[in-house]
Parts: sequence; C-alpha cells; structure tokens
Amino acid sequence: MKYGYFDDANREYVITTPRTPLPWINYLGSMEFFGLFSNTAGGYDFYKDAKLLRLTRYRYNNSPYDCGGRYYYIKDGDTVWNPGWQPVQTELDAYTCRHGMGYSVITGKKNDLEAELLAFVPISDNCEINRIKLTNLSSSKKEIDLFSYIEFCLWNAEDDSTNFQRNFSTGEVEVIGSTIYHKTEYRERRRHYAIYTVNKEVAGFDTSRDEFVGLYNGARNPQVVAEGKSHNSECHGWAPIGSHHLKVSLEPGASETFVFLLGYVENPKDQKFEAPNVVNKKPAIEMMSKYDTDAKVDKAFDDLKVYWDELLSKYTVNSEDEKLNRLVNIWNQYQCMITFNMSRSASYFESGMGRGMGFRDSCQDLLGFVHLVPERARERIIDIANTQFENGSTYHQYQPLTKRGNAAIGGGFNDDPLWLIACVCAYLRETGDFSILDEKCAFDNDESKATPLLDHLDRSFTYIATNLGPHALPLIGRADWNDCLNLNCFSEEPGESFQITGPSEGPVAESVFIAGLFVKYGKEYASLLSRIGKEDRAKEVTAEVDKMVAAVEDKGWDGEWFVRAYDAYSNPVGSKVCEEGQIYIEPQGMCVMAGIGVENGKAEKALKSVEEKLDTKFGITLLQPAYTKYHVELGEITSYPPGYKENAGIFCHNNPWIACAETVVGHGNRAFEVFKKTCPIYLEEISEIHRTEPYVYCQMVAGCDAPTFGEGKNSWLTGTAAWTFTAMSQYILGIQPTFDGLMVNPCIPSDNKGYKIKRTYRGCDYDIEIKNPNGVEKGVASMTVDGQAVDGNIIPIAKDKKQVSVVVTMG
Ligand code: BGC
Repeated sequence: MKYGYFDDANREYVITTPRTPLPWINYLGSMEFFGLFSNTAGGYDFYKDAKLLRLTRYRYNNSPYDCGGRYYYIKDGDTVWNPGWQPVQTELDAYTCRHGMGYSVITGKKNDLEAELLAFVPISDNCEINRIKLTNLSSSKKEIDLFSYIEFCLWNAEDDSTNFQRNFSTGEVEVIGSTIYHKTEYRERRRHYAIYTVNKEVAGFDTSRDEFVGLYNGARNPQVVAEGKSHNSECHGWAPIGSHHLKVSLEPGASETFVFLLGYVENPKDQKFEAPNVVNKKPAIEMMSKYDTDAKVDKAFDDLKVYWDELLSKYTVNSEDEKLNRLVNIWNQYQCMITFNMSRSASYFESGMGRGMGFRDSCQDLLGFVHLVPERARERIIDIANTQFENGSTYHQYQPLTKRGNAAIGGGFNDDPLWLIACVCAYLRETGDFSILDEKCAFDNDESKATPLLDHLDRSFTYIATNLGPHALPLIGRADWNDCLNLNCFSEEPGESFQITGPSEGPVAESVFIAGLFVKYGKEYASLLSRIGKEDRAKEVTAEVDKMVAAVEDKGWDGEWFVRAYDAYSNPVGSKVCEEGQIYIEPQGMCVMAGIGVENGKAEKALKSVEEKLDTKFGITLLQPAYTKYHVELGEITSYPPGYKENAGIFCHNNPWIACAETVVGHGNRAFEVFKKTCPIYLEEISEIHRTEPYVYCQMVAGCDAPTFGEGKNSWLTGTAAWTFTAMSQYILGIQPTFDGLMVNPCIPSDNKGYKIKRTYRGCDYDIEIKNPNGVEKGVASMTVDGQAVDGNIIPIAKDKKQVSVVVTMG
C-alpha cells in the first residue's frame, strides 16, 4: 500500500494522507540551524547541537505519535483545524505534504478554505520560515482566526526534560509587537535567545502554555483557540510558548499570506544588553527584516532551490530504470547530506541528546558526501583527526559543538582508526588535494602535539598492525563496526553499557572483520604512499597487509565462509561449530571487498554462503541462526530478540558491502538484486509493512526471525546512505574516482543495455555513456574520450577543458 507518490520533476515525495504508518519526516537547514519537519508539521528546531541548543520541545516516544511541532490553528466559524491535521485531527477535505530538498509544503483544505504552509530554513540564516497562505475558495466572505503555537525548549534538551525543580522557575519571555522573545537564562550565562515572530500586526499573543492550552486540555483542543481570543499571557517560569493570534478577513477568491519566523540570535558577550537588563535586539530585528515580505521569502526559497540544483548536478544517472534514477539523482544523495549535517544525533529515532558524532560513522558518511561538498569534507576530516590519540587509537565519538572527544564513551573500538584512512583516501581521490596530508592535526585536541595528517594515518595503520591477538588477527577491543558484538564486556547487571563495561583492551578477542578492513584500507594506504613517493613505507605497509591476508585465509576461514571473530576464550564466533550465530554478514562483505580469496575461490564461496544462509526477500540478515539465548561472552548482540537489530536483523548498512563484494567477483545481476531488496524506493508499494519513509533508508529492517519481518526502523541517520551511494555510483554503475582520474568499471545486470552518467569531477563535467551491446555483467572492451580511443579504463584528468564526452563499450 502506498501513502503518496514520487514527483521526480520537483524532487519531492508527495504524501496524500496524514495517517502514515509512522510520522514521515524531512530535514530543514543546510548549515548551522536545523529543523525536523514531519508530514503533520511535527518536529523541532535547534542550532548546531540538538542537545545543547534546542529551540523547541518535542516529546519522543509519545502517544499519539508526533507530539510537538509548529502548529497553526484555523478557526473558521465553529470548525477548528490544522493544515497538517495534527494536533486537532479534524478530518480535512484535502491534504498533501510535499517533502522536497530542504523544504516541505503542507496543504490542507476544509470548508472551502485552503491553507498552504511552506517551511524551510534559508541557506545562510539561523531561522525557520513558515509561510502560511490562506485562500477563500467559497463564494462568501470569511472571517477567520489564525493562531500559531510553538513550545520553547529551555535550551539543553536533556535538562529540559528532567530538571523540573529548577526549570519550572526559570522561563522568561518578552513580547514586543508581533515578536515573542524567549530569553530564559539570558540574564545569566547565556548570550543567545530565540524569537518567534510574524510579519503582520497581531490581535493578541500568548507565552504561557497553561494559559494557551488550558490546564487539562492539551494541544488537541487549546482553550484560547476554543475561545477565539488570546489571553495576552506573559509566562513566568513553567512552560514558555509562543502563540500569535491573527484576525483574517477574506473576500471570495482572496488570499492572504503570513510569514512566521522562528530564529536563533546570539550576541557578543559585551553586547548582550542595550540598557540594564534590556536584551540587545539589534540582530533579531535585522534577521526579521530579511524575511518580512513575500518577495523576500520567495527569493530565499529560490536560493535554496539553486543550492540543491547545484549539489545534485554533480552525479546524475540517466537509465531506463526510473526508480534507480530517482534514488541516485535525488534521494540517496539528499540522505547523504542529511547524515553529513546530523551524523547520528537528531531523527525521530535518535533523540538528539544521546550521541555526538561517531568517529567511524562520520568517516563513513564522508564517502557519500565528499563529491558534493569537498571543502566541508576537508574541514570534517581535520575535526575528526584532531580527536585521535597519540597511539593511533581514537575516541569513539566527539561533540559537534566543542569538537572534542567524548570522554564518557572513550575509545577502544578498534575498527575506528582505519575509517580515517578510508575517508582521507576518498577525499584525495575525489579532489586530488594532497595538501591535506600536510595539515597539522592535534592529538586529543591538544594543539601542542599536532602532527601532519599523514602521520595520523600512519598511526592508525600501525595501531591495528601492532595490536594483534593469538591468531595474528586484530584485537577487537570494545567492539568493531558491530557495536553490539562486545567480546570483552561480560555484563551481568541490567543497565550497564555493553560498550564501556568490562576491560576494553582484552588481549585475546579478535575480529576478522577488522582484518578485512585492514587489508582493504591498508592497500589503499600503500597506494597513497606510493603516489606521494614514499615507496619504502609503502612496501612495509604492503608486507603487513600480506601477513594479514595470510592470517585471514588461515584462521579466519571456516571452510565455506569467513569466521566473524574469536571471543575472549579464543573460541570462534560466526563458525559452523557455533550453536547459534554460525555465519555473519560483515566479514564476507569486507574481506571480499578487500580482495581476500578472490583468486582462490574463497570469495565466491563466501558470497554463495551469504546467498544460501543469510538472504531473505527483504534483504540479507546480519547473522544466522539468530541468537535465542543471552550469551554473556558475546554481549549486546544477544540481548535483542531474534530478528531485531544486530541479532539477525537486516542491517541495511552492510547489505551494500555484499553488493560491492559481488561486483568484485563480477556478479552484476546479483549485485543489483542485493541493492534492490533494501532500497526503500522499490518498497514503496508495501509501505504498510515497511512503515518508514519510502524515500530514505532506515538502519534496520526486521529479519525473518522477527514477528514483524520486513518492518523498518531508525530511518534517516544511517551509514547505509553513504554505502549505498558508494556501491551504486562506484561499484555498480562503476564511476570510480582514483588518484589520477575517473575509472570506469561498471558491473551491472546483463539485461541492462546501457545508461548515461553526468559527473562533475575536479572542475570538469564528464558526460559518460556506457553501452552494453552484448549483455555482459562486467568488463570494458573499449573507451573513447572526446572521440579519441584511450587504452585502459581511466579517463585522463581534463587539464584545460570544462566538458568531456566519454563513450564506454562493455564486453
Ligand atoms: C552505529 C554504528 C554501528 C552500527 C552497527 C549504529 O547504530 O551508529 O557506528 O556501526 O550501529 O552496530
């Protein structure tokens, strides 16, 4: 069942009922100010950090779903309704929500009145614009009351939802004309406040939630709206809100617009006040003046569209598969940018209070956005590298606001350092900007110890190479990519963190997955070293990589597939000798991507085992058989009921590893099949089962052992976005940046007769046509560049040209 449709021309998903299986959301904001915006106008806003600088409240895990948002109540005679249906839930005569690139438009209709709500965050301002357009479609004059309503968060979202003994006394506001200033804690240590304003004269306002909503009413039937008149309340403590009352007269056929603005304003410390205890409002007034007319809002909205047009023009495919085009050209790249902005902080599943930026997450996300925003990717790399420890290991997370490592979690996740090599190599292949390797980066943010980025990469590599276990495989530490495989934890007490309990640096437990990762990125590191003339070090690195390949082939091979790990007793995990959890997906994908066993048939065997033992109609499960008992020696992975999350769920993040691996052994048909099974766009028709948004990936789909097989969870903030884009754009469609130009190496279904790619690369636009006349899955027979035949499959870097045409014939 579908709940909407794709409008590709406008790059929108159009939702046609407010009753979606879960709230289906969008993200507003591109730089520092962000909003989450659901199809019923739910969600919240924050500046830079969803935990520390939250502007509005949201109630996670609530019933009904999706409580808290920017709500507009329309009182038309006796009927009260919202354009987005929530929170009043009056049945609408018509409803659509168009989620587009950085904006959403909700249109509701009731009793011949239409309300259109456009929401977006201008490219370079710290505010969310909500423009409401009311149109009288009836043949008689309408007198309407329009009320706005948002609930302010007292900045620190965690404190806001726990520390009531203090917070019920701190709230402060000020109202001047149509502008509500939320200034809680401004008198003391804060130098920022929020504004909520409208560009028209108001009939009244409210800033006290109890007054607006009524003591026991709730947002579904606010007192003030029922009465049709604001109380002009000024809040003192309790719950500060912002509400405006506008009186609207509309002749038949007439329209009127209202521009609401919710903004974040910061003053320099010495300019906080314009008079004793009078807030300096200058920057707020400036901000408001930039959006106080329709024309100004139109211009800001156009700028946003141009921004996305430019971003999404860097890689486009034109194929016969409209769903593939839609994924690659619009939604996958859009999701990659959202992971760039949010990491794993704020979604409808991530509360914005829990996690900072993950070290490995951020490095992997970069694979998906480096071609879109290379300059910002560069900054991100430096920020990440600054949190590394001197011995080459890393913090597992860092805070976006302070950019410091998160000491509460610490380090000891032994895959983390290798992802730094992965993302730096990706950056270099994309940009050719080798100067980044000389960039001085701190250790644990201590600038006095800064060394060039290249040295950081070397320490990453060396850390893994010198922390090996009894089988000469890398020690796993607290966990590797799979945060829930905790082989050094042994937790028996409820509530203990599986990641930080127990001895982190266990001397025995090893990871075959990290071994595969080491081989893949060790090879990339060696080729980087050769490329910059450091042949001696390249040879040493290659020797270490070769040793690791031998260790994997020896102790990391189970006969039909790669072992997953060895536990703290040196017993194998993910082996046929195990009772449960005999085969895991991660080492099969990573080892084959690294090229291990490609020449001796182990790679083919491992992938066959994946197909036979892990595959389902909704994607490849993480392991089989699912764990039915808690295994104290394995940790969190066995804490989940069978079929969920890491315990045999379909973890979308590592499905593309298998797609990539299949291309390594030349299986274009299978690679595409793997891709399609988890791709939300191909699942749109079964949205009632999948439940999460059909336009973005979710982290996990319930596996075949789960009672809700096929149900998605944790949409938006997942490394799936970056890995799917990498798998599709580089491994399947086969346009791979190298240090010396674009390589064309497609691996596609045999019935794909060809497609075209437009790729902007190092300042030049490449038009690449791939022809597949003989229906092969892999192999380039010939290539011409601007009509000239070229040997091999690397397009030489265009020196003086801005436009290059390439024709590639497979065979
Ligand atoms: C984490 C990733 C981790 C994955 C698998 C996600 O929630 O953000 O860092 O690799 O789970 O455990």
